[in-house]
Amino acid sequence: MKRIAILGSTGSIGRQTVEIIAHYPDRFQVVALTAGRNTHLLAQQAEELKPELVVVDDPDSARELRGMLSNNIDVMAGTEGLLAAAAHPQAELVVVAVVGARGILPTLAAIDAGKDIGLANKESLVAAGELVMAKAKEQHVRILPIDSEHSAVFQCLQGQDPAHLAKIILTASGGPFRTYTREQLELVTPKEALRHPNWDMGAKITIDSATLMNKGLEVIEAHWLFGLPYEQIQVLVHPQSIVHSLVELVDGSVLAQLGPADMRLPIQFALTFPERWPAPWPRLSLADVGSLTFAKPDVELFPCLALAYGAGKEGGTMPAVLNAANEEAVAAFLQEKIAFLDIPRVIAKVLDKHNNKGRPTIDEILAADRWARTSAQHIMEQPQFKG
Ligand SMILES: NC(=O)c1ccc[n+]([C@@H]2O[C@H](COP(=O)([O-])OP(=O)(O)OC[C@H]3O[C@@H](n4cnc5c(N)ncnc54)[C@H](OP(=O)(O)O)[C@@H]3O)[C@@H](O)[C@H]2O)c1
Repeated sequence: MKRIAILGSTGSIGRQTVEIIAHYPDRFQVVALTAGRNTHLLAQQAEELKPELVVVDDPDSARELRGMLSNNIDVMAGTEGLLAAAAHPQAELVVVAVVGARGILPTLAAIDAGKDIGLANKESLVAAGELVMAKAKEQHVRILPIDSEHSAVFQCLQGQDPAHLAKIILTASGGPFRTYTREQLELVTPKEALRHPNWDMGAKITIDSATLMNKGLEVIEAHWLFGLPYEQIQVLVHPQSIVHSLVELVDGSVLAQLGPADMRLPIQFALTFPERWPAPWPRLSLADVGSLTFAKPDVELFPCLALAYGAGKEGGTMPAVLNAANEEAVAAFLQEKIAFLDIPRVIAKVLDKHNNKGRPTIDEILAADRWARTSAQHIMEQPQFKG
């Protein structure tokens, strides 16, 4: 019986994690669940999985939830609750599936408490990769990637000497606007951007996929997870989303991991690692797929990728600033306050204004995150970003 805490259980990754766990009721036990505000789904999950602790983001939602649950389940709220779930004494593996920089502190808390991590929350590695990886090494905990690309790389590297890794090739679907012109991109709406061709995901990552910032964040995530310099991490557009990523070894051999575009596969591998369990999820039929294509990304039209490489290479607090500015710009785009192509414009301006701080502490990272949010808000007030 593996005991698991799921942070962000009501989200896209969280719900699929719950589905997998429900499929193997004799092999997993859920000890803690957390959500933002979705008390109804959280209560339903709690009824089914009987955790010891459930957490929501604000005290009002916590009060509402308390009334929905039996007395033997503890209810907590806010950061205190999230950190308690992350470090729950019964948990062996913590799935971090909250979205955004909100994932940084619970990831660190879970590592501090010696838990293995199933990591979906890429933003924590982007903003605090050096700290997260150093702590994981110190505490002898495993960071098991859930992002499909990083799971693919992780799977390709099983049984390989890490010294033999020459290059990582991350694949990108290219998002819904892969074939658009600049003129078309100027006019896209949140509704169009939320329609991803291959994956059904949360709103923030869906917009990140459309701008290619998602791939940029994944490049930084890969840098920290697999310890390669940015020059050895390449991105290829692969619209079919069947080859989830590839590794090139020092002798020139290239290994790839393939599968249907279904997050349950990489989530399950993180939950069962180092074992593999027979699973009922759909299988890949290459005959049905027919052809697989690959192309270089267009970094002129999708500048977020280049912004992420730049911030990653500069290091220090730059990636935290990139991430926070992106979160603010994406939220503003979703609220129709700025245009799609304003997202990279806002991020570039915030990065330009930032005084980078090398080898930052966690407090310096969180301060840079706050500074970047205020700065992005201030920039978006300017007339050029209105309407
Ligand atoms: N979705 C995918 O296929 C996919 C693939 C690869 C990587 N990822 C990564 O996985 C993470 C989660 O993505 P997602 O698509 O599952 O996101 P999502 O559907 O938006 O779910 C986010 C989860 O975080 C919770 N949450 C939101 N704001 C919170 C707050 N302030 N405090 C505490 N909890 C909060 C949400 O609760 P409520 O439901 O109550 O709002 C929900 O449980 C992201 O970092 C993303 O980049 C996702």
